[in-house]
Amino acid sequence: MTNTIILIGFMGAGKTTVGQQLAKETKQQFLDLDDEFVKETGTSIKSFMADNGEKAFRTMETKVLEDRLQNSGVISTGGGIVESDINREIIAKSDATVIFLQADLATVISRLATDTERPLLRQLSMKQLMDRWALREPLYSSLADSTIQTNGKRPEKIVQEVIKLF
Ligand code: S3P
Repeated sequence: MTNTIILIGFMGAGKTTVGQQLAKETKQQFLDLDDEFVKETGTSIKSFMADNGEKAFRTMETKVLEDRLQNSGVISTGGGIVESDINREIIAKSDATVIFLQADLATVISRLATDTERPLLRQLSMKQLMDRWALREPLYSSLADSTIQTNGKRPEKIVQEVIKLF
């Protein structure tokens, strides 16, 4: 497996956990774009959004995406990366294989129930969160080369399903 793999999907879909394990299993470098964002800005996403807002976060997220795509390996993205046309273009134009880790809204909500780090979970009402999920689902699907359902699956199983695609 030599291609770069980009994992996309909603918050709580398992992109980071699966990405780490997949990279280990395939002996590739792993990059988490949320972590790269923190390295780049020197601040947590939570504080960055609190100080600068979501729009500024998205602008910076694009810069980090463009820059880190110059690396090969497994790259996990933030759930909102597909909301920007520019980001979708950058991903589509890259040589990477894009994999959508799909999780139902109920699964996502239960996985994120105790999360305190993701600012959007605090800012958005349940209705707004559902609207974001509904807005993003078709965007993930149309950008992805393959979709893997993650509901009720352990990360190891999802990793094996990704590997089987190649
Ligand atoms: C976001 C998802 C987060 C992070 C930021 C915004 C979103 O990443 O990028 O809090 O808009 O869905 P994860 O999908 O890794 O939680």
